[in-house]
Amino acid sequence: MNLKDCYSFDDFRQLAKQKLPSPIFHYIDGGADDEITLKRNTSSFDNCDLIPNVLNDVSNVDLSTTVLGQKIDFPLFLSATAMHRLYHHHGERATAKAAEKMGTMFGISTMATVSIEEIAKLTKGPKLFQLYIHKDTGLTDNLIERCKKAGFNSMCLTVDTVVGGNRERDRRTGFTTPPKLTLGSLLSFALHPGWTLNNLLHEKFQLANIIHTTKKGSGIDKSVVDYINEQFDPSMDWKDAEYCVKKWGGPFALKGVMSVEDAKKAIDIGCSAIMISNHGGRQLDGSRAPFDQLAEIVDAVGDKIEVILDGGVRRGTHVLKALALGAKACSFGKGYLFSLGAGGQKGVEAVLQIMKDEIKRDMTLMGCKSVKELNRSKVVFR
Ligand SMILES: Cc1cc2nc3c(=O)[nH]c(=O)nc-3n(C[C@H](O)[C@H](O)[C@H](O)COP(=O)(O)O)c2cc1C
Repeated sequence: MNLKDCYSFDDFRQLAKQKLPSPIFHYIDGGADDEITLKRNTSSFDNCDLIPNVLNDVSNVDLSTTVLGQKIDFPLFLSATAMHRLYHHHGERATAKAAEKMGTMFGISTMATVSIEEIAKLTKGPKLFQLYIHKDTGLTDNLIERCKKAGFNSMCLTVDTVVGGNRERDRRTGFTTPPKLTLGSLLSFALHPGWTLNNLLHEKFQLANIIHTTKKGSGIDKSVVDYINEQFDPSMDWKDAEYCVKKWGGPFALKGVMSVEDAKKAIDIGCSAIMISNHGGRQLDGSRAPFDQLAEIVDAVGDKIEVILDGGVRRGTHVLKALALGAKACSFGKGYLFSLGAGGQKGVEAVLQIMKDEIKRDMTLMGCKSVKELNRSKVVFR
């Protein structure tokens, strides 16, 4: 199997499974505890059906939308995810370039392996920086100031990761950053010589945005959850979030909001957007799926704040359903990470092209000329 055989999320996932050593594949693929939320994030889209309208001259369909102050060519962007260097030796360079080429926004994580400054030089496309608040308070100011100087367009603060989720697959495979060769994992690395060779021959793994303040997680073998539990600040509260909103002073999203109550507080502290998200099912297992919470949150705050649906998106029809319920756009993680592992920048471009084509085809079949025409009349719950 190779890239040209990939037509869907499942195909890219299969190819990534072939190409990546198993601890790395399972780090992307896994969720918390029994992975119930992970599965529910996608299956929740099946609770409703689309109702098309016909004979509406759909010879020109406009997929573009504006989110966090940025125009994107289609209503799906790359949610921030950690450590792209693990999945492909070009790391975030590959993902950022693919997003730019395909006309959508790139989200870069605090835990990226390419620096804010390098990404800013590399791409003129819309860029969203994802902030984690560390116990080292100077780090927050430092990251915000560097993003301003580098010309990032928007920022989000992840609020669902005050402690690490229980990712049992990582414990079973012994996943660490950087990857550690153990007796157990040796076979898996040996069976993936392409990845292993590229890993050895290219730049060293590092958490490029925070290496100057903490070497933890960069130079020593560490589990991601240990890193989170040691470094992230569980005392973070609404005042800290408000501080970040004010300090940034531009379009700002809270990522990981799941309740109407918190969505209202996000408005009070001056956020311009919320990302309804449970971290792709990697944190609190048993929490509701973002899609299941979407309508209620949109009804309560949709006229005052942009609502972004993050989690479980695998198909163009998922994006259509979210937009019909009132989301401004969707974002995804695993959907582009598998394609990064499967084929670097070309892989990410391929999956984005497939998603863009699906959204366009689905909107045409729905009789919608623009994303504005996707509204509640277009979906019915079973
Ligand atoms: C491998 C991996 C790493 C992630 N790293 C981060 C991160 O550093 N910061 C963050 O806010 N979210 C992170 N996430 C969560 C994503 O931003 C996003 O919320 C999630 O992937 C959406 O669900 P989906 O994978 O079903 O699309 C990560 C997700 C994955 C799969």
